[in-house]
Amino acid sequence: MFALLGQLFSCSDADSPTGSFSIRTTNTVVHYPEDNTYDSNKVALGQRLFFDKRLSKNKNIACASCHKPELAFADSAKISVGTNGDFGFRNAPSIINAAFKPYLHTDAGIENLELQSLAPLTDPQEMANNYYSVLELFNSDSEYVSLFKIAFDSTPTIYGFTRALANFERTLIQFNSKYDDFLNGDSNSLTSSQKRGLTLFESERLNCTECHSGKLLSDFSIHNIGLEFHSLDSGRARITGLAEDRNKFVTPSLRNIKLTAPYMHNGSVTSLTELLTLLETGGHDFPNKSEEIKSFKLSAQERVDLLHFFEALTDEQLKN
Ligand code: HEC
Ligand code: HEC
Repeated sequence: MFALLGQLFSCSDADSPTGSFSIRTTNTVVHYPEDNTYDSNKVALGQRLFFDKRLSKNKNIACASCHKPELAFADSAKISVGTNGDFGFRNAPSIINAAFKPYLHTDAGIENLELQSLAPLTDPQEMANNYYSVLELFNSDSEYVSLFKIAFDSTPTIYGFTRALANFERTLIQFNSKYDDFLNGDSNSLTSSQKRGLTLFESERLNCTECHSGKLLSDFSIHNIGLEFHSLDSGRARITGLAEDRNKFVTPSLRNIKLTAPYMHNGSVTSLTELLTLLETGGHDFPNKSEEIKSFKLSAQERVDLLHFFEALTDEQLKN
């Protein structure tokens, strides 16, 4: 099932009960699974769920607390704080365009958006809740009862919870950057510095597009890029248990990268300047480090050009 839609977010507020969005149409085709076709009623319910702090055990954090609309649905914290004041070990990524990802989480451990929301809901370091309590909440709130009835023609269920959130998340689409205008043929949309940055980004010397390829600037493959090993997080090996998967992470999309600091799976890199310095080194020499990671040296001008190019990846509506 396919549907044409797009989303433009303005004056959104993670602390407001429902957030504030205005919707518009783009030419983006979003794939919907058969058991969760596009439905504006599911979107409305999903949006309310996404901004509702009562979903967390102590009623103090919502999905939007870690995925802040004004930060491209990412978080500025290195590690976001959970409902009990605890911290996990990964940085909250942007969920814009998650609709197009073949799998989720940086270890590729989750198959689809329908399954994903159950992880933060029940994770003790995130919302630390359980199905019984959230169903009790939905049933005690007449607006939820009515929204579930309209969207699913039933009383509140966890099935509906997962479908509504995923339906809402598939409306978080962004292809409104200067880079998109450039790809669509407007050669004046990038400054000459940004164009030089793009040429560098695509160059064999830097080799970035070997992995940050396609419209989302990701190959969605899993690589060890030579970052320092973290004892708590072995990346893809957490899922497979295989030594060859140690410290391998999914290539992130670079869209809205200017807004989503800090960077990397653990938020260990605080700025894009620092990130370029790290990439220049070519990383640590692990046996399974990707052969596509090469060391290089940027001139001061080249560094500025790349940073300018990254700015062209910001959605125009998020610039306000
Ligand atoms: C306490 C902070 C926190 C809360 C609350 C939270 N998330 Fe996340 N979210 C994260 C982190 C951290 C990750 C990265 C997990 C990983 O890669 O293993 C993530 C990953 C995701 C992803 C996958 C993104 C990708 O590209 O792989 C989606 C989708 C998502 N969250 C949606 C939600 C929804 C829906 C809710 C509410 C039900 C929610 N999150 C609540 C921190 C949070
Ligand atoms: C071998 C594949 C590969 C190559 C080549 C590569 N990257 Fe990456 N990149 C990744 C992976 C994988 C990550 C995530 C690592 C992590 O989460 O620990 C990443 C992370 C990043 C991030 C941080 C994104 C975020 O949201 O945290 C930026 C920015 C980035 N790369 C830019 C570049 C640039 C610029 C180049 C070229 C100089 C480049 N990359 C080359 C695979 C690659």
